[in-house]
Amino acid sequence: MNSPSLSDFGDLSRLDDFSFDTSTPVSKKRFKRAEQSILNACNITSEFLNDDFHDNLFSSDIPSLKTDNPSADKNEPLASPFLNVKNSFQLPPEDKEHHSELETEKLDKDDEDPLGYCQSQMVKSQSSKLLKTNNIPQNSSSSSPFTLSKSVHFSPGSTNSISDDIIQRLKHNISASPKTLLSRQAKRSSLLFALDEAQKLHEQLSQTSIGPFFGLPSKMSELLRCHKGIDELYPWQKECLVLPAVKQKRNLIYSLPTSGGKTLVAEILIMRELLCYFKDAILVLPYISLVQEKVRGLAPFAIDLDFVIEECAGIKGTIPPRKRRKRHTLYICTIEKAHSLVNSMVEAKRMDEIGLVVVDELHMIGEPGGRGAVLESLLSKVTFISKQTQIIGMSATLSNMSDLQQFLNAEIYEKDFRPIELKEYVKVDKELYELIDKHTEEWRLVRNLDFSYTKDMFCRDPDMITGLILEVIPQNSCLVFCPTKKHCENVAKMVCQFLPDSVVSHRKEDKELILKTLKEEGNGNVCEILAESFKYGIAYHHSGLTMDERKLIEEAYQNGVLCCLICTSTLAAGVNLPAKRVILRAPYVGREFITLSRYKQMIGRAGRAGIDDSGESILIIKPTDRLNVGKLLTSDMDSCQSNFITEPALLLTLILSLAGLEIANTIPDVYSFMDHTLAAIQNRKVGCTPSSIIEDTIKALLEHNLIQYDKANTEAFSITNLGKAAFRGGVDIVTVEEFLNRLSQGLNGLVLHSYLHLLYLITPTEFSTSIPFSADIFYQMYNSLTSHDIGVAERIGISERMVMLMASGRSFGKNQVILHHFYLSLILYDLWNQNSVWYVAKKYNVHRGVIQNLLNSASALASTLSNFCQELKEFWAYQLLLPDFVKQLSYCVTMELIPLMELPAVKRGRAKQLYVAGYKTLPDIAKAHPRDMVEKIVHLPYKTANQIISAAKMILMEKAEALHEEAELLMEEFDKNFSMLEIGNIL
Ligand SMILES: Nc1ncnc2c1ncn2[C@@H]1O[C@H](COP(=O)(O)OP(=O)(O)OP(=O)(O)O)[C@@H](O)[C@H]1O
Ligand SMILES: [Mg+2]
Repeated sequence: MNSPSLSDFGDLSRLDDFSFDTSTPVSKKRFKRAEQSILNACNITSEFLNDDFHDNLFSSDIPSLKTDNPSADKNEPLASPFLNVKNSFQLPPEDKEHHSELETEKLDKDDEDPLGYCQSQMVKSQSSKLLKTNNIPQNSSSSSPFTLSKSVHFSPGSTNSISDDIIQRLKHNISASPKTLLSRQAKRSSLLFALDEAQKLHEQLSQTSIGPFFGLPSKMSELLRCHKGIDELYPWQKECLVLPAVKQKRNLIYSLPTSGGKTLVAEILIMRELLCYFKDAILVLPYISLVQEKVRGLAPFAIDLDFVIEECAGIKGTIPPRKRRKRHTLYICTIEKAHSLVNSMVEAKRMDEIGLVVVDELHMIGEPGGRGAVLESLLSKVTFISKQTQIIGMSATLSNMSDLQQFLNAEIYEKDFRPIELKEYVKVDKELYELIDKHTEEWRLVRNLDFSYTKDMFCRDPDMITGLILEVIPQNSCLVFCPTKKHCENVAKMVCQFLPDSVVSHRKEDKELILKTLKEEGNGNVCEILAESFKYGIAYHHSGLTMDERKLIEEAYQNGVLCCLICTSTLAAGVNLPAKRVILRAPYVGREFITLSRYKQMIGRAGRAGIDDSGESILIIKPTDRLNVGKLLTSDMDSCQSNFITEPALLLTLILSLAGLEIANTIPDVYSFMDHTLAAIQNRKVGCTPSSIIEDTIKALLEHNLIQYDKANTEAFSITNLGKAAFRGGVDIVTVEEFLNRLSQGLNGLVLHSYLHLLYLITPTEFSTSIPFSADIFYQMYNSLTSHDIGVAERIGISERMVMLMASGRSFGKNQVILHHFYLSLILYDLWNQNSVWYVAKKYNVHRGVIQNLLNSASALASTLSNFCQELKEFWAYQLLLPDFVKQLSYCVTMELIPLMELPAVKRGRAKQLYVAGYKTLPDIAKAHPRDMVEKIVHLPYKTANQIISAAKMILMEKAEALHEEAELLMEEFDKNFSMLEIGNIL
């Protein structure tokens, strides 16, 4: 948008009437018109303004418009006397001499005064100054209607307030025709002021192109159509976006069935926060894969609407984040990263930057094993510390909504909307049933399954899974959930034996291409089951696959090349992979009987908006499971229970962080914070007061030297350096001891000829159970080590003699633990040396997924250790060594690929493909055209190419902006110093 010229602001000869009273109907109209004039000048029409924006722009942003009455509602029509005090505006003495000149000019009181609004701003601010200093003129120019007459009394005891008097007098002024006029100079300066205001307003608006799409620019509709294929919002989405809670920025929880379209509402609210309210936002998602998918999906929006997305998952994301001067940031985080981010913002006293926190899958707050506790800590801190930060939670599977409502002090919005109907069936033997009435538990037999199975087929596929799959594929898609990984592979193998050739011919070439890519990514290796099942458009999908395999399979399924995935329950919570039909092979997850929320999450994948007109789920059960399944399907949704009640040990980490952030430094402080937790609400409900638990926790922290009582004030405690290290590293008490041992041993002599010793330090020993020790392999590996690396073994207590004895079958008791630990380090060392996961998996005879998990856990542990060391002076050497090592380990690819791996959801395989295709750097990708990229890279969907390019642009823009801002800061610093120097010279 070009800068406005003078003429953009309308007819300047009509500027004589400098204000209007917005509290009267006529002047309200005038105010509106003047507002419109400015907007016209800025190429924006008032229809573009929603109420929030209007409030923001014309009320809250302008302090002088606010009433002094503290009880007054800020949304009330403006009734401030300051609006009209313009008429008491006193001309400077030199201006008075021009009055007579101006008297001859016609004062146009046209309602359409284009600058009236700005003028009133000037006058308001000046007049409010006058009022503040009690310098209210009473008779300075009795002949002027723009001054207050003598008859206005300002006695302190008067029942009418000064404001009322001024209002009355000035209302009169508005209707009276003016007799005296302001001087030319005053008019000119007012004009300039008005132009300046308009210019500022224009700049503010042009930064964000606020528009008619729920406060966002109209191009939002275009972007939604283009990048998400969404033409129109569902009625509930429209309703939700204009809820009073949304408008007034109060906390909100909304709950709809799976696939109800919850995400879109959250995304619109986030973009409004960034673009209209000019604050940053945090989006919390439960899994790294979901974060990556979301970053990639929103990258085109960030480019077009000019905001920043920062991925905070795994090792990605700077904490505390960089302060940005120009654009606002959406942090897309996992639960753990969001918690670290909020901690860092609290510590840096920057919580006012965060306007909105959105939590997807809010029911995760009840997730056992500590994840729920992290989410609860995060939300409790936000509600306790940053009252102005709005919290929005969403979920499909919430039952104890009232607990969460109280916890977040939130409004609730619930709708039973699903764009695509979902039919739920239960299969027992050959019969398919449907639950008709949940309350009466009435079931209906829908049909008998009559597949033409041979005897042999029936023997090998008694649940008739093949028949059920074949009813929908290859034209439509199908997901089959199995209780375990092994089940997935077996079902995939079995189904392929019975599928007809017609399935093989469907998209044959595409399938061959994917298989080729899969092979390339595995350095020529491909799993035999996948190689066979791909021909039928089928794949298994579980955590035993490498990340690259998973990504490729997911993309192929999304494109319709693969039509059936046989998967574990992890897929239900991962990326969005819907299907026409969802089959649950058994009502179990692992060995556990399925919970209702898990069941709902899995079947919720059925029915794709815009593709299918209906979706269906089939739960296969044995007759013996009938009773339990009946109970499950007629029960209420699972309720989520605070982790701090179910696992009180988790309080240690929470209370330590409260001390670290100086939120609570005394026992009463801790109680006061704990009162804001979900645990407090749920405890109160059952009449429980867990004071002894809290006090025991504080005692344990003191005993472990993580906090200490202050010498001066024995009531108050503070965090120790060790406590800080544990808090920053996110480490629990037991692990603190282990870390100290490991790191201290390293201090006595770290062998740095290679990375082996560092790898030993960050090896996660819990993998000893999933990766068994093999004496033969160890012996071979040991013999191939260089003399330097043998030195590492010696340093940690593994002598050559010991290895020889081990090879001859001796067991080493306690030393066996060290041997096993070193064995795991050798696996990592192989990966570090650029050997593929496939190669290493074969060499150590372990599943490739497990090897990759070992690498991921090692990299997470390295990152935790690195953070831990930052707080402890004695570990200065690690402070220097670990950060780069952590980065390299986490990517564990050749260095030249690392920049490409910065892209969201780009794994080693895709990075390699891009690199080989000539896209070697981020700028190469940012400059590319999606069409060219699709041509050069086998099996890359256009949408993905587009998202990768947008993400590259986004990262580069962000880097450029960071450099630019750094340069600006340096220049400012330089200017300051330079001027100081000059002053020094002058003096
Ligand atoms: N207004 C709309 N028109 C058409 N499709 C839509 C609309 N809103 C959302 N969708 C699509 O519906 C699908 C499901 O939406 P979404 O993922 O937001 O569901 P959800 O409510 O979050 O479900 P879940 O609880 O399973 O996460 C997505 O593919 C999304 O793009
Ligand atoms: Mg969702």
